[in-house]
Amino acid sequence: MKQQFPLEKFKQLQTPFYYYDMDVLEKTLEAVTNEANKHNYHIHYAVKANANPRILSVISKAGLGADCVSGGEIQAALKAGFPAEKIVFAGVGKADWEINLGLDENISCFNVESIPELEVIGELAAAKGKVARIAIRINPEVDAHTHHHITTGTKEDKFGINIEQIDKVIDKIDSFSSLKLTGMHFHIGSQITEMEPFAGLFVKAVELERYLSQRRIFLENINFGGGLGIDYKHPDSNPVPDFKAWFEIFRKYFPARPGQQVHFEPGRSIVGQCGSLISKVLYVKEGVFKRFVVLDAGFTELIRPAFYDAYHEIENLSSDETQDIYDVVGPICESSDIFAKACKLNKAHRGDYIALRSAGAYGEVMAMQYNCRKLPGVYFSDSIEI
Ligand code: LLP
Repeated sequence: MKQQFPLEKFKQLQTPFYYYDMDVLEKTLEAVTNEANKHNYHIHYAVKANANPRILSVISKAGLGADCVSGGEIQAALKAGFPAEKIVFAGVGKADWEINLGLDENISCFNVESIPELEVIGELAAAKGKVARIAIRINPEVDAHTHHHITTGTKEDKFGINIEQIDKVIDKIDSFSSLKLTGMHFHIGSQITEMEPFAGLFVKAVELERYLSQRRIFLENINFGGGLGIDYKHPDSNPVPDFKAWFEIFRKYFPARPGQQVHFEPGRSIVGQCGSLISKVLYVKEGVFKRFVVLDAGFTELIRPAFYDAYHEIENLSSDETQDIYDVVGPICESSDIFAKACKLNKAHRGDYIALRSAGAYGEVMAMQYNCRKLPGVYFSDSIEI
């Protein structure tokens, strides 16, 4: 179904701004919780995808946990109502204050990415007389066939611990009474649209489990991270990702042992399709061989096209004239400030409203103030009365 935009209301607002369709978010949350409940899977929303306080609070009310990668995200998650016992904390560079915050709040798990980090968590927990629950982030060396900037599971990535080092890591945990090994954590990358890379992940997970059981180690928690992709080309016909297929493939290849909890950390698949960046056409500029639409939004508001060559559907909300071909660009003084080349758009005019779709994940949260620009405004479909 085609998403409706309240154009008349938009006309009273300063562009550019993010607009969130709260029905799409609610439907997505309903789908993910229904499907996860069928398998008793635990879902921790990856806060990095969108940390808007209103969005976080809707997600926490739906009963999800939170996957955080900084002290700031832990604070934002707690403030939005996520219970500490559903918060996991990952990241290769956890600062001491962030570890202390996690310990003071009794978060559920530290996903640890190196031996030096283990030592610091062990010491800080001992100083507080606490026991930190640890999951080892394993680098499964699975290529997720996604953009190289968002692939994380191969040997040369900075993330995770290589399987060869597992014994050293377990010995280190054993040497601290302030550390308790509770699980393994994996994440192979983001915007994964084929299920095959996940199959590679199970093979590694099963292998590792088998090895650990020889060492008489039982893992309470297996966390498979995030990564489920969304349909950037068809946000209207595919607003809710296929959580059913995602979970079923895990169920098929990784049957959990009795008493074992399986966790996931989806980010993009929860919030991606509910958000659009709304912008206005400043100028339609005739080049020699092409025609440009110059928007009042640039990579400062949505960096994904410039940073990852990412595709976002672009829609002219103000025009139903026949389509023309344009390069859609922003106003930033950088030649990479391009949203799309040779893009088909209903004939554009100065003042037309443009929606950049599927921008709910890694959109607002990655906005910046380069060129002394203001951060974008934010509006929600259920409270846009002005
Ligand atoms: N868990 C871990 C350990 C992660 O590193 C990430 C994402 C997630 C979960 C959530 O992944 P998701 O379900 O959203 O794919 N800014 C980039 C994406 C960076 C993803 C970083 N890690 C983009 O705009 O495409």
